[in-house]
Amino acid sequence: MRIDILTVLPELIEGTLNHSILKRAQDKGLVEIYLHNLRDYSTDKHRRVDDYPFGGEAGMVMQIEPIDRAICSLTAERHYDEIIYTSPDGEKFDQPMANTLSLNENMIILCGHYKGIDFRIREHLITKEISIGDYVLTGGELAAAVMCDTIVRLIPGAIGDEQSALSDSFQDRLLAPPVYTRPAEYKGWKVPDILLSGHQRKISEWQHEQALIRTRALRPDLLDE
Ligand code: ADE
Repeated sequence: MRIDILTVLPELIEGTLNHSILKRAQDKGLVEIYLHNLRDYSTDKHRRVDDYPFGGEAGMVMQIEPIDRAICSLTAERHYDEIIYTSPDGEKFDQPMANTLSLNENMIILCGHYKGIDFRIREHLITKEISIGDYVLTGGELAAAVMCDTIVRLIPGAIGDEQSALSDSFQDRLLAPPVYTRPAEYKGWKVPDILLSGHQRKISEWQHEQALIRTRALRPDLLDE
């Protein structure tokens, strides 16, 4: 998989890409992630990528030319399955969407900023608009980082135990059951006996039951769906 991220603030995403599972997946050659500074595609002598909006409202709008130039330089090299724009008015990002996106070969993620981007970009260049939740971020960089993390960990081999990506919360529309590690007792707080029993079938049943109990208590909407 290859992900190209277009942004005016590459520094905001860099740290996320260079740690933990995202870094390991890149080191293993499972994913290539490239950050492109949109200012590199500006022809303005001050490397500006925004301008005043037509119609005179307050705030700045990202211009079409640098973004079109950046996208064209990438699409000239290879086919992209999706050209994604991060925006609070996009389709809500969730686990099923991450699963689908994890099957893609090449994706571009355009991070929104300022008051928005020239609407013609959304009309003519973008194939999918994604929101990570009903709140407004300063820019799309954190949304892009969240999406990359969620998608890359689904690539086979990205996390040590492939089984654990499948048993994540939400993967089967259930929250994850509680997990524990040593010591088996701490300050009198005990790990449930069943987990120490060595009886694998009973442990699996208990975990499933706990997942149901937690989902019913905390996220009944997942069961309704
Ligand atoms: N940009 C600003 N807010 C956002 C959100 N909630 N999701 C994705 N991109 C955004």
